[in-house]
Amino acid sequence: MTEPLAVVGMGPIMCVVGARPNFMKMAPILRALANHVPPLPSLLVHTGQHYDQDMSGRLFTDLGLPIPDINLDVGSGSHAVQTAEVMRRFEPALDAHRPSCVVVVGDVNSTLACTLVAVKKGVPVAHVEAGLRSYDRQMPEEINRVVTDQIADRLYTTERSAEANLLAEGISAERVSFCGNVMIDSLLANRKSARSAADTLRLHDMDPAVIDHPRGYGVVTLHRPSNVDDPQTLSALLGVLGEVAKDLPLVFALHPRTRSNIEKLGLGHLIDPACLLLLPPQGYLEMLGLMSGATVVLTDSGGLQEETTALGVPCLTLRSNTERPITIEQGTNTLVGTDRQAILQGVAEILSGRGKRGRVPELWDGHAADRIASDLWRWLRPSVEDR
Ligand code: UD1
Repeated sequence: MTEPLAVVGMGPIMCVVGARPNFMKMAPILRALANHVPPLPSLLVHTGQHYDQDMSGRLFTDLGLPIPDINLDVGSGSHAVQTAEVMRRFEPALDAHRPSCVVVVGDVNSTLACTLVAVKKGVPVAHVEAGLRSYDRQMPEEINRVVTDQIADRLYTTERSAEANLLAEGISAERVSFCGNVMIDSLLANRKSARSAADTLRLHDMDPAVIDHPRGYGVVTLHRPSNVDDPQTLSALLGVLGEVAKDLPLVFALHPRTRSNIEKLGLGHLIDPACLLLLPPQGYLEMLGLMSGATVVLTDSGGLQEETTALGVPCLTLRSNTERPITIEQGTNTLVGTDRQAILQGVAEILSGRGKRGRVPELWDGHAADRIASDLWRWLRPSVEDR
């Protein structure tokens, strides 16, 4: 019998979330830590990078996440301000709770900020979803990934290409463990509870008959600064989506950044509400239902590229690169960039039945978080026994 860490006098595993795409990654990890034998004590920190009900509160409920033990309430700001504010507020939390290690996920500003604080205080850090690279340093997330991976101690990868990226950056293979995809753990655990697309539309007083179309419907999300901050790119993209929507009704879940730019730039006239249905940011179960029933997903999100691959739904990624190449090589994803012709052609192929079917990648099997919990225990155990 092995005693729980808490009993042997070791601090909790401090799990950090900050922004929307972190929540579905951390939920299965927290569960796996609790179900591990012995149970591994955890503490949930929410930096507050995303803070409102649509971007945060609802997802906590949908995913069964516990109320955070610590909320840093940082809110929005420039990259420098947001990162600095997370660092400033995270340090006293670390001092107060003396964790055995910090677990960070993904590539948002909170991931980088908490990693920096912890490693400089000598607290070990494990990074989940390590090694993904778009090789595009214009993306703020790419900077967050590269720096986090360089300084974190333990690196959990979702696909084999990630380990190769890390080794090419001089990181030793001993620090890396291929555990699979925790985001897909959440997807598989919640698939049966997903809300149907028709119910989601009804909830927003929209007529579900719109998506009851012979070709089905498409789902759109856009939030990358490169797509939605530049007026010309955003108006061109809305124009193409309008063209697509004439053949295939589209449901567009609007990120607050995108909504605010559409309003600020006066681009609302490009949206025909009869076939391009605008929704607020969706809860996890709503988004899962919308994607599961879709003919195609058009997106610039990293998470949706993976989720559509797991669901077997064709995905057109409105970017010129991806840090998740397995979704292209094995999954249902195609990069179409922001070029009108490429987008229209991608949609036409899918509508004519020539869309990618794909297969589910290795270890995207619903048990990634269990493997991470076991590895964390193997990793931390020697320091417990040293005491
Ligand atoms: C962040 C992440 C990005 C991730 C995305 C998912 C970084 C660098 N970026 O980008 O990797 O894909 O989250 O959404 O960490 N806002 C709200 N409510 C909120 C939070 C934000 O209305 O709860 C608005 C604010 O106006 C804010 C804007 O959204 O200025 C952008 O939020 P921010 O966290 O800065 O970046 P995201 O674009 O969401």
